[in-house]
Amino acid sequence: MTCSTRFGGVWQISKWSAWATALFATVQLVNSPDVRAADPESFDVLARAYRQETRPLLKQFCLDCHASAKPEGELDLERFGTIDDVRRSPETWIKVAEMLDNGEMPPKDATSPSPAERKQLRGWVERYLEAEALANAGDPGPVVLRRLSYQYQYQLI
Ligand code: HEC
Repeated sequence: MTCSTRFGGVWQISKWSAWATALFATVQLVNSPDVRAADPESFDVLARAYRQETRPLLKQFCLDCHASAKPEGELDLERFGTIDDVRRSPETWIKVAEMLDNGEMPPKDATSPSPAERKQLRGWVERYLEAEALANAGDPGPVVLRRLSYQYQYQLI
C-alpha cells in the first residue's frame, strides 16, 4: 500500500512540475518584448507613435480623400485624433491594413508614400491591432471584439 501511495505522490509531483513549467513559460512569454503589447503601458507607446508618425502620414497621404467633411468610401480617418478614438473602432483599422496590404490605398493616381513611409504606417497599424487583439484575448466581453481578434489572427496567418 505504501508503495502505491508513494507512486501516487510521485505522479502528483510530476504533475506539479509540469504546471510550474507551464507557468514559468507563460511568465517568460508575458515578459518577452514581443508580447509587451499586452501591457496597458504599450498603448502609451502606440499613442505617442500615432501622434508623432502615423497621424502625420495619414494627413499627408489619406486625408485629402478621407477627411471628415466629405469622406470617400464613407471612411473618415480625420476623426481619429488620438489612440482612444482609434480604439473605439478597431474594425476600421483592419480595413486600413487590408487596403495597405493589397496596395489599393492610396489609389494609384494619388501621391504615394515611399516604401519606408508605407512600412511605417502599416507597421503601426499592425502593432496596434496586435495590442488590441491581445488586450481582448480571453475577454468574455463583446462578441464583435472576439470576432475581430480572430479575424486579425486569421489575417496574420
Ligand atoms: C485620391 C483619393 C484617396 C486617397 C488619397 C486615399 N483614398 Fe482610401 N478610398 C478612396 C475611395 C474613392 C474609396 C472608396 C472606393 C474604394 O473602395 O475603392 C476609398 C476607400 C478606402 C477604404 C475602404 C473603406 C471601406 O469601408 O470599405 C479604406 C480602408 C481606405 N480607403 C484607406 C485609405 C488609406 C489608409 C489611405 C492613405 C494611405 C487612403 N485610403 C487614401 C479614395 C482615396
